[in-house]
Amino acid sequence: MKSQTKSKARIRDHGEVFTAEREVKAMCDLVKDECDRIDSRFLEPACGDGNFLAEIFSRKLNIVKKKYGKSPHDFEKNSILAASSIYGVDILADNVNACRERMFNIWDKKYREVCKKECNDEAREAVKFILSRNIVCGNALTLKCVDENGVETSEPIVFSEWAFITGDLMQRCDYTFADLLAGEVVRDRAQISLFDQDEGGTFLKRYISDYRRVQQNGEAV
Ligand SMILES: C[S@@+](CC[C@H](N)C(=O)[O-])C[C@H]1O[C@@H](n2cnc3c(N)ncnc32)[C@H](O)[C@@H]1O
Repeated sequence: MKSQTKSKARIRDHGEVFTAEREVKAMCDLVKDECDRIDSRFLEPACGDGNFLAEIFSRKLNIVKKKYGKSPHDFEKNSILAASSIYGVDILADNVNACRERMFNIWDKKYREVCKKECNDEAREAVKFILSRNIVCGNALTLKCVDENGVETSEPIVFSEWAFITGDLMQRCDYTFADLLAGEVVRDRAQISLFDQDEGGTFLKRYISDYRRVQQNGEAV
């Protein structure tokens, strides 16, 4: 069984106690339908090394396989959509790196299982890029990015909204976390819905590209 703690200092300084697998699964079962929806968005503002995000991602990928397992292209596309729907923040860079790597390995294992010889490195790079944008090293209280040395920067946390617009074209719109929260506070919802902006929501930049080339940043529009 995986240890739930790493050190007394980390518990004291960051409240780092990981959730056991049994509790993670039981909590995900409470929102089972959302976990089984390929494009439903999840954000964990203190994600650690991704115990919840990994479970949610695995559930989504099982659904992608069930629905699209017979078509490597459709599996690839929808598994990338699933990857793009999951977000996390942690203040510790080693947790963020571990989380990204864990999520990538979950995806890549399923990708190899389903797509076999049709696997390609471009899709792998796209997933790594999406995870690098979606799993952020930052302070979820101040909404600012934190560098690898644990120093808070003046950079705001920015999240990308990913969506297929037509065929294989994927759109990325960037929003600050602060703006997303401010928009939601106004609407006073118990469960916030990321990116569900009112008309005129203020995105920073928008990019459109083939889903396998999101890492090239596409064309800013
Ligand atoms: C109780 S652990 C939970 C980790 C994970 N969610 C889990 O259930 O296994 C809390 C996590 O929050 C992170 N953390 C503490 N303060 C934070 C902050 N202000 N912003 C973002 N993450 C923070 C810690 O580094 C730690 O990984």
